[in-house]
Amino acid sequence: MDTSRRTVLAAAAATGLMAAATGTAYASGGRQPVRELFGTLADGTKVHRWTLQNGGTRLKVLSYGGIVQSLEIPDRRGRYANVSLGFDDLDAYVSSSPYFGALIGRYGNRIGGGRFTLDGEEYRLSVNDGQNSLHGGAEGFDKRVWDVEPFTDRTGVGLVLRYVSADGEMGYPGTLKVAVTYTLTPRGDWRIDYTATTDRATVVNLTNHTYYNLAGEGAGDILGHELRLAASRYTPADATLIPTGELAGVAGTPFDFRQRKRIGDGIRTAHPQLVLAKGYDHNWVLDKGVTDRPQPVAWLRDPQSGRTMTIATTEPGVQFYSGNFLDGTLAGPSGRTYRQGDGLCLETQHFPDSPNRPAFPSTVLRPGGTYRSTTVHGFSAR
Ligand code: GLA
Repeated sequence: MDTSRRTVLAAAAATGLMAAATGTAYASGGRQPVRELFGTLADGTKVHRWTLQNGGTRLKVLSYGGIVQSLEIPDRRGRYANVSLGFDDLDAYVSSSPYFGALIGRYGNRIGGGRFTLDGEEYRLSVNDGQNSLHGGAEGFDKRVWDVEPFTDRTGVGLVLRYVSADGEMGYPGTLKVAVTYTLTPRGDWRIDYTATTDRATVVNLTNHTYYNLAGEGAGDILGHELRLAASRYTPADATLIPTGELAGVAGTPFDFRQRKRIGDGIRTAHPQLVLAKGYDHNWVLDKGVTDRPQPVAWLRDPQSGRTMTIATTEPGVQFYSGNFLDGTLAGPSGRTYRQGDGLCLETQHFPDSPNRPAFPSTVLRPGGTYRSTTVHGFSAR
């Protein structure tokens, strides 16, 4: 090797470029994450958009809210579409987003009455959904600017998003240090690894709130999508969508997705739970329970395009929300408006209102412990 080449390599290694340039992810079509300016918040903070590409999947993520702004995957003929609902400008995310694509915390889903008691002390949370606290309160993790660090290594191409939630923020006790890793693997899976630590006992339930339409955002409703959920029970809710505490069997009800079924087949049934939620907006109790490793729990397919998504998770529950509150007042990047049922969410999680339900799997995190949760989305087309 001549001296000049050795010098270049030494310089590259010193700046960390070496690892990226020789990383195996490159061999499978991965590229280093690319950053661009997406917009500026009212206080002058710049928001960036990162583009990740690997294994045939392309993901665009904002530093604001850790939002998945676009998720592009091919159909059975190789044609790409963005299968996630969202916006193409920052202002819309700030002013009117129903959590499109966002990272949700400190507590995904609802806490009844916006309060809970832990170790004998009562905490009152930010209330933003009638009397309840929803998705971490009025300014949850979806409205925070995250610190973003890109990486390219053996596991794939990705971003580590970090946020420190102050003690008392939105009413929650404890300084919570959160790190969320989004990885596009060499086979094109989108993997999310969540970790968090605290300096006081608190509750944590992190998730991602992407709305999927496998035909493409703006392509119509998801009622023709087929869904399978590995769950024999779900948590019925009261009129404010707080679980009653019962774990009800799905057998013989429109909540039975143990065999794949068109979402539209049962959604207009006058089942009291569907009436009160205006469709599906419930937590399914996954048969596998809490697991150390992600296990397959959901399967979603659009028969027209053949696009298929599988979800594996370590979490014990999944909120299947059929986009009931979309009412035609928001328009996506396609320029088309989003109406009821034009997208669906599958939010892997611990059960809603767990801090007030000792019988549900615990969401308590204590100092010295680490909150861990992993969800993997796999994509194919056939
Ligand atoms: C969650 C809730 C829904 C709704 C959406 C956002 O999925 O369960 O009731 O609030 O978020 O509109």
